[in-house]
Amino acid sequence: MYSDKVMEHFKNPKNVGSIENPDGVGQMGNPVCGDIMRMEIRVKDGRIEDAKFKTFGCGAAIATSSMVTELVKGKTLEEALAISNRTVAAALDGLPPVKMHCSNLAADALHKAIKDYLVKQGDPRADDIVVKESEGHEHEHAHEQEPQKQGEEDGK
Ligand code: FES
Repeated sequence: MYSDKVMEHFKNPKNVGSIENPDGVGQMGNPVCGDIMRMEIRVKDGRIEDAKFKTFGCGAAIATSSMVTELVKGKTLEEALAISNRTVAAALDGLPPVKMHCSNLAADALHKAIKDYLVKQGDPRADDIVVKESEGHEHEHAHEQEPQKQGEEDGK
């Protein structure tokens, strides 16, 4: 089901933990499953010098978080903002379609951490970064929620 790269990053995730006095912090909850990820970054001379994460989530979330922290190091903020969930999934040689929503956590938490940094700097570019909590929804999850709705209706 998972590529070797996903398994490698799941079993030996890179950059787990936190940064002392981070320059930016982004926490993201996955609306699909409730899993949570926190990303911390250190920025120096306009580049991401270090990134660390803590993820309370599934194997795919841990693998994508690990991959994102590896991808962003040394990147400018603009380059880091261009990293999407699909970039991360591709770097891991793909994710099963049903697990694509897991990759949103890492990309969104990264974007939130960059926004946090820019806000703290009073940088107007912060306004351009919009991270929606609901971005994790993919079409295939719509039906996953139907039984719950059904249950609510039944309970009326
Ligand atoms: S199932 Fe929650 S992030 Fe993967």
